[in-house]
Amino acid sequence: MKFHVLTLFPEMIENAVHTSITGRAAKKGTISLNTVNIRDFSVNKHMRVDDYPYGGGAGMVMEPEPVYRAWKSVADLRENNGKKPRCIYLTPQGKVLNQTLVEELAMEEELVLLCGHYEGIDERVLEEVVTDYVSIGDYVLTGGELAACVLIDAVSRFVPGVLSNEESSQFESIQDNLLEYPHYTRPEVWKNRQVPEVLLKGDHKKIQAWRMEKSLERTRQRRPDLLEKNRPVTTAFFSPTGGTRKAAEIFTGYLTQNPRYLDLTRRKLRKKKIRFSSRELLIAAAPVYGGQLPVTEEPLFANLQGEGTPCVVMAAYGNRHYDDTLAQMKKRLEEQGFICIGAIAPVIPHIYSSVLGKGRPDEEDRKILKKFAVETKKRLEKGRTEGFASVQVPGNPDPEPKQMKPVKKTFDSALCTNCQSCVQKCPVNAISQETLEIRGDRCLNCMCCVKVCKAKARGYDCSQVRQYLETHYSTPRKIEFF
Ligand code: ADE
Repeated sequence: MKFHVLTLFPEMIENAVHTSITGRAAKKGTISLNTVNIRDFSVNKHMRVDDYPYGGGAGMVMEPEPVYRAWKSVADLRENNGKKPRCIYLTPQGKVLNQTLVEELAMEEELVLLCGHYEGIDERVLEEVVTDYVSIGDYVLTGGELAACVLIDAVSRFVPGVLSNEESSQFESIQDNLLEYPHYTRPEVWKNRQVPEVLLKGDHKKIQAWRMEKSLERTRQRRPDLLEKNRPVTTAFFSPTGGTRKAAEIFTGYLTQNPRYLDLTRRKLRKKKIRFSSRELLIAAAPVYGGQLPVTEEPLFANLQGEGTPCVVMAAYGNRHYDDTLAQMKKRLEEQGFICIGAIAPVIPHIYSSVLGKGRPDEEDRKILKKFAVETKKRLEKGRTEGFASVQVPGNPDPEPKQMKPVKKTFDSALCTNCQSCVQKCPVNAISQETLEIRGDRCLNCMCCVKVCKAKARGYDCSQVRQYLETHYSTPRKIEFF
């Protein structure tokens, strides 16, 4: 991450950034700092950069031309990329910096920070160069430099490689709109105060529960306003072979540290009615089968009931296309009280091919999933004040049911140990417990039974389908989101 800071006091920025963790990151080259002294671009022989305000009044105003030239000196370097970097003006009149904005800014490759002084900067140059107005809080500083340092520090923490493993705590405060739990170190007793018992025993489950409880208690006491914004996240997924689950988990992990997972691959869970309040977020994830949602006896997600609850739908596919799946999911969930605020179609390994979607989600996919997670947070924040907006997604929400080409399944009874794994794991109860035969009318061809069979008694032959898919759909597709 490259920070360019346009300022009249470069040493203020240099000193702060080249200290402690950001200093180490700058040395390593994980972040870089380029301060630009606006005075160097003065158009006045006395190197003045300010003048009296039109209309009178106290204080001086920074002239537009030196600021413009300083900005151009860095923005022009990027001209060949076609895209100018975001230019942030630090001002008490801006959007108050929060963790969502910090994470959003951390995804940029470079940022230009503009620091004002005196009474401010001529409005016309702000109109010309500024993309974002950011405040660090509702108080007025003498200039934007300290605010720029705060922003650089907060953003740098999210730049990969800036924090060491020990420094990047698992449970980052604020990220989930919860404050951190209290910390203790040796000695066990200090001034008659004992370290809480639970932390000394090493039972990780209990420690986690205690920390969560303390986080909530602390947030309730000290920052009830944050608790209001905290939104429990549930990810409900259907994933017979694990691909959808993986994509859903990566995305969920970018959104929250405390998710609840509902594995709807389990029939029992698809039968249970589960209600969501408007204060929660649902992520619904399913694989694409022949361009549609898999058809199960208890329709996927039909047991989930919202109450104006925001949801994100995810249709994971094996590099051919998601076709109507997102539209189907959106319609189904919106009929059940959810508002679909976002939709995404990640690419995962195809169940009938070892080539299509191989290694996906990859590093590039993770970046897109993260970007969409930050976008989702932004939509949630906006929705709190303005109401949630239902997103448009491509596809037919009511497609004709498709007759899937049957895939030939094989079963070698000589290898079978009758462990019953396939019977128990089959998401649609299609395998007979007694005969181990597959009921063709129920089978989804999801290949779960093949995957779970340790004895390798189950297999399948889909060479025709595979050949067709690999001939037509082997160019890797990029994740789309809406
Ligand atoms: N410049 C002066 N006060 C400021 C604030 N609160 N935030 C950002 N920039 C500023």
